[in-house]
Amino acid sequence: MSELGSHLNTHSSGEEAFTFDPSAYADGVELSELPIGVFDSGIGGLTVLEALLTADGFHNTDLKPGADGRPDLENERFIYLGDQANMPYGNYSAVGKVDYLRELILKDAVFLLGRRFWPTADAAAPRHDKPPVKAIVIACNTATAYGLADIRAAVKVWGIPVIVVGVVEAGARGLLKASKEGAVGVLATVGTCASEVYPKTIQSTLGLAGRSAPSVTQFGSANLAGVIEGDPSYATPVAEQVAADVRGLVEAHRAAGSPAPLKKVMLGCTHFPLVIREIDAAFAKLREEPEFAPWIAEVREFVNPAEWTARELLSELAKARLRRKGGAETEENRFFISVANPRCAAAKLTDTGVLDHDYKYGRETGHLDIEDTLVVPMTRGGLPEVSRRLVETKLPAVWQRLPEG
Ligand code: DGL
Repeated sequence: MSELGSHLNTHSSGEEAFTFDPSAYADGVELSELPIGVFDSGIGGLTVLEALLTADGFHNTDLKPGADGRPDLENERFIYLGDQANMPYGNYSAVGKVDYLRELILKDAVFLLGRRFWPTADAAAPRHDKPPVKAIVIACNTATAYGLADIRAAVKVWGIPVIVVGVVEAGARGLLKASKEGAVGVLATVGTCASEVYPKTIQSTLGLAGRSAPSVTQFGSANLAGVIEGDPSYATPVAEQVAADVRGLVEAHRAAGSPAPLKKVMLGCTHFPLVIREIDAAFAKLREEPEFAPWIAEVREFVNPAEWTARELLSELAKARLRRKGGAETEENRFFISVANPRCAAAKLTDTGVLDHDYKYGRETGHLDIEDTLVVPMTRGGLPEVSRRLVETKLPAVWQRLPEG
């Protein structure tokens, strides 16, 4: 943080990589007109964006609870960043690289606050016409676990009036609406589980609401996000990986000795709502085995933090009086993705042009002069086949807005 902080202090024009121009937030700027930034380690956060584009839990005119047939955030524009070149974020903690992950997360926030991006990976120069954002939604559970506090602190230090919302707090609030009985199971990445962010946030959120502390068991999957995304380095079929991870969660719950069966399942990774049916089917199948049956409720309730994040964001925008007014034509949303920089001499790339695994997980903080990944526009055509199919079939509101490319 301090290295990035001094880098920002010495490059306040926003022209350089990993910088932004704070004067974009000066008094007199109509902040409500700015878009909302949403970031994730990859395309999984598009599940959160889909929820932001479609959530309808309130009347848009007076914010009274209840659907009115219009998306709650219909006047807003969104800027999405998927830091695909540096993912999975969930595996940095296991190799002792939490500091580097925290720097990556702050860089994501800085990208959203700034105007700079590359039109293509081989372009001669970056462009500087992306609008800055009035709010940052951390759509990634792992990034929320390791970076929410850093981004909130940084926004304070930088003196900019930007709202910061993370998926974990929203998910924990979602649990308040689930059944009171039964134990909670959290499925997430290895990194999110190692941070303990869900058990801690669930206990404090429920405690503040006067509810007794539930039993919370978590299971971190090193592979499921990659498998869902169709990353060629993960060969296991989705159903097989889901079955293994669900079994891992149930075994951990049984070993923890709580008498209550798992009833509420927190989908604590952006990708997991995409395979919710497969996850529930895996619980049902495992329940057929007598040794696991007592630990699994007959009917499971799933909490998708994405849906609750939309409420959280709306409430924060309303409180700060930053909702975009209706009337004006809503400008296009913009989508960005990071790719390995083919011209970066310091970076090691594989034959397929992505960051070499050992290089990726061996980097140190503070090298802000090295731009080993570039942020470029995300298009339908630029997505790998499996991701493209996922977005097209499961995230229609996002798909409709994603440029052809
Ligand atoms: N987006 C991440 C999350 O929600 C999963 C993928 C990753 O590990 O980068 O935790």
